[in-house]
Amino acid sequence: MKISVIGAGYVGLTTAACLAQIGHEVFCSESDLDKLTKLQGGGMPIFEPHLEEVIKAVRKAERLRFGSTDEAIAWGDAIFICVGTPPLPNGDADLHAIEAVARSIAKRASGYRLIIEKSTVPVQTGAQLRKHLSVHSTNGLRYDVASNPEFLREGTSVEDFLHPDRIVIGVDSPRAADMLREIYEPITKQEFVCPIHSDCPKRKAPIFLATDTNSAELIKHASNSFLAMKISFINMVANLCEVVGADVTKVAEGMGLDPRIGAAFLNPGIGFGGFCFPKDVQAFIRIAEKSGCDFSLLKEVEKINQRRVEHFVEQVRNELWVLRGKKIAVWGLAFKPNTDDVRFAPSIALVKSLVDEGANVRAYDPEAMGKAKSVLPNITYCSNPYEAAEGADALLIVTEWDEFRNVDWERLRSTVERPLILDGRNALNAAEAASHGFHYFSVGRPPVLPGQAGSAAIGASAFVGADIRKESF
Ligand code: UGA
Repeated sequence: MKISVIGAGYVGLTTAACLAQIGHEVFCSESDLDKLTKLQGGGMPIFEPHLEEVIKAVRKAERLRFGSTDEAIAWGDAIFICVGTPPLPNGDADLHAIEAVARSIAKRASGYRLIIEKSTVPVQTGAQLRKHLSVHSTNGLRYDVASNPEFLREGTSVEDFLHPDRIVIGVDSPRAADMLREIYEPITKQEFVCPIHSDCPKRKAPIFLATDTNSAELIKHASNSFLAMKISFINMVANLCEVVGADVTKVAEGMGLDPRIGAAFLNPGIGFGGFCFPKDVQAFIRIAEKSGCDFSLLKEVEKINQRRVEHFVEQVRNELWVLRGKKIAVWGLAFKPNTDDVRFAPSIALVKSLVDEGANVRAYDPEAMGKAKSVLPNITYCSNPYEAAEGADALLIVTEWDEFRNVDWERLRSTVERPLILDGRNALNAAEAASHGFHYFSVGRPPVLPGQAGSAAIGASAFVGADIRKESF
């Protein structure tokens, strides 16, 4: 099918590349001219595992082209709208980019088009789009509007697109449902060349769920808000564990063994970030407010998350006493591993707070330093983790990159001034840290002193392969 994707952000670019990978002829547009020029020249505006290889291959096969919005509108029988919906100061999603695209489609397109909203939007945006298209249509456009929320995670977006658990569509006509079924057929039937796994195993087919448009739109916001709620919940349990001397890793494992709860998204830390959860929780709160529903539960989810960085800085202060003039190494700036994205990353608030108190921050991140430099200009960026740790009074783990888990302990010990680690992601092995003379603090677990095999040390060693349940007896 001829498909257009409007907006080459991380959702649009992944969607365009993967739809071309499964056999469609795709035209992807981008309004930012620098970004467009980069893409047309074979460059990548974002770091996302596998995406560059897929784009290279499908461009070579002439199934993906990049260009302007007008060209995209002229090209596709199906048009995916993947433009940004950033938060407004009051928490509402800013829909001006979607409105502008809808107006261009109404003015320029003729014949039949399936217009699909893939950007995360408030419920009833589909209804607004339909109204708007009919008001502005001048070329005899016939259309359906559908919702097709994405559930891609940054860092694994290509994998998530090609091997999803579910594909949700919100439609109000059989024609729209049939077209979307056809678009996703190679994925639902698993009949495509997988660019990730050379010997891709046959898996359980994803569930294809068709609903009305309002329900599909709500599924997206409700899913992200629910996952955010799980994270804030376990973060509060972590606080409780710190006070009563329990181990949150074991509590989370014990909870997660109940299939009604599930083990995923029960990792405590310094809070959720990124361009999705913080803005989607805010937007969902606003949607509920405007609909007269008291969803104050989500306000607590947000508050708990906002307090995570403060709580972490408080722990740093407890150890270092005065931060002014202290050398603090920060490992990780991206909001999570395998991405260079620092939007709404906890690292930003954390580093700003340390710098405001006069600390001398030396940071390292394998991918995100380029993007961090514009938001955090007053710190020293280092070319590897050990350079960041040189002479440090404390080392803070902010993003759980594998590179940090595989730390060379001897080298690290001889690099820092004071052997003190505050691990905001429970990423390092506590037993290793202690055996190399570090004082190790993590989230929701008792601190471990140099040479000590405390509860966090046991928990961390159990993490590495052993059956943690046996440790509990
Ligand atoms: C999230 C959802 O997981 C995707 O399904 C959704 O499509 C996407 O938002 C979106 O709306 O576009 P993403 O923001 O890429 O994906 O990242 P996640 O892996 O969900 O992590 C979000 C944040 O939660 C990160 O800061 C991560 O460190 C934090 N997190 C996650 C925790 O603190 N604990 C956990 O147990 C899991």
